[in-house]
Amino acid sequence: QPDVRITNLNLHKGHRVEVRGRITKGSNGFAINLGKDAKNLICHLNPRFEYSVDKNTIILNSRQNDVWETEQKEAAFPFKAGSETMLIFDFEDCITVHLPDGKEIPFACRFPIDVINYLALVNIELISISVH
Ligand code: GAL
Repeated sequence: QPDVRITNLNLHKGHRVEVRGRITKGSNGFAINLGKDAKNLICHLNPRFEYSVDKNTIILNSRQNDVWETEQKEAAFPFKAGSETMLIFDFEDCITVHLPDGKEIPFACRFPIDVINYLALVNIELISISVH
């Protein structure tokens, strides 16, 4: 179950959402989900400390009609459980995720979406969300 769920984010192309939060201490990873709704995620960002075969790896994926698609994995890992963090998502024809160390990860939009209305946080306590 997400810690925070927003269903009217109203994020349009050309805009960005900045999420600040504190990663839950002792968690095996955390997630920030963006999409149309809980079943249709255009971007699931899931840094994993240790989960399944993944250690200190970022997983990105999409979900359509409640089914996960193909995982994209990134080795960069500027995260620590129990610490504050900040992620920025630029919404254009693709999504660019800005990690807290400045690294950028491009993630293709795998289905058409004009507006991102859904945002959910898992294992990360919200500090602030802003849309520009
Ligand atoms: C699953 C995991 C989900 C999600 C998905 C992404 O193994 O249970 O929470 O991270 O991978 O592909």
